[in-house]
Amino acid sequence: MSDDPLVRVDDLHKRYGDEEVLKGISFEMDRQDVQVLVGPSGSGKSTLLRCVNRLTEFQGGEITLDGTPVTEMDVDDLRRQVGMVFQDFNLFAHLTAKENIMLGPRRVLGKTEEEAAERALDELDRVGLAAQADSYPAELSGGQKQRVGIARALAMDPKLMLFDEPTSALDPELIGEVVEVMEDLAEGGMTMLVVTHEMGFARAAATDIMFLDQGRIVEHGPPERLFENPEHERTAQFLERLTRLHGETR
Ligand SMILES: Nc1ncnc2c1ncn2[C@@H]1O[C@H](COP(=O)(O)OP(=O)(O)OP(=O)(O)O)[C@@H](O)[C@H]1O
Ligand SMILES: [Mg+2]
Repeated sequence: MSDDPLVRVDDLHKRYGDEEVLKGISFEMDRQDVQVLVGPSGSGKSTLLRCVNRLTEFQGGEITLDGTPVTEMDVDDLRRQVGMVFQDFNLFAHLTAKENIMLGPRRVLGKTEEEAAERALDELDRVGLAAQADSYPAELSGGQKQRVGIARALAMDPKLMLFDEPTSALDPELIGEVVEVMEDLAEGGMTMLVVTHEMGFARAAATDIMFLDQGRIVEHGPPERLFENPEHERTAQFLERLTRLHGETR
């Protein structure tokens, strides 16, 4: 099993009604890979992430996690293994940062109160928020809330982390702190599939950048090649524009 790629997406097709939004997507991710996805609005980036943890069903092709088709896995089990961080933080307002993080390990993994609390504090420390453990979401900045969201996902010991524009809802001055946490995670060997406009992150952390347009992969490759020597003019233009708008965040 361990010779399999961690993630294999093979000829994925996805329709919403009559509209085919993913038109045969194939790629693989090894353990510790950081796959960055970019593309225009509506190109299917979020849909692709949602297919991976089955927030939406797909009609053709296959996605495997660690050798097992996700469609054959128990959905709860799949989502235990695949952490997801969205643009919105979705923290419970009536729970502190620590309590938000403890919830999954308590309810889903069956950890004791003490185990879950200890793990939550470890994860808060990892994202630089040890001092905010007892703060409620309303007392945290957007960047801090997003870091709690990341800590919450990490506390479940995921094999894979999905990020869908985790910094898009943040004020510009708060983006850097979240990107920094993501870069640390990547360096620490987390396998990550990331939709982002942050080209600083992509350059620093991506093992591969994939450019999606209208449900197809236009091209993909390591950041050095895609930035310096893209095959398609369209890729060059798109990356240039993103770099101009979201180049360096810190
Ligand atoms: N629940 C849905 N029902 C019907 N169509 C949908 C649904 N979700 C997405 N779509 C359509 O699927 C296509 C791809 O959408 P998707 O959200 O994956 O794009 P995206 O690349 O993430 O865009 P953005 O950069 O704006 O987030 C779009 O045409 C969109 O309108
Ligand atoms: Mg999207």
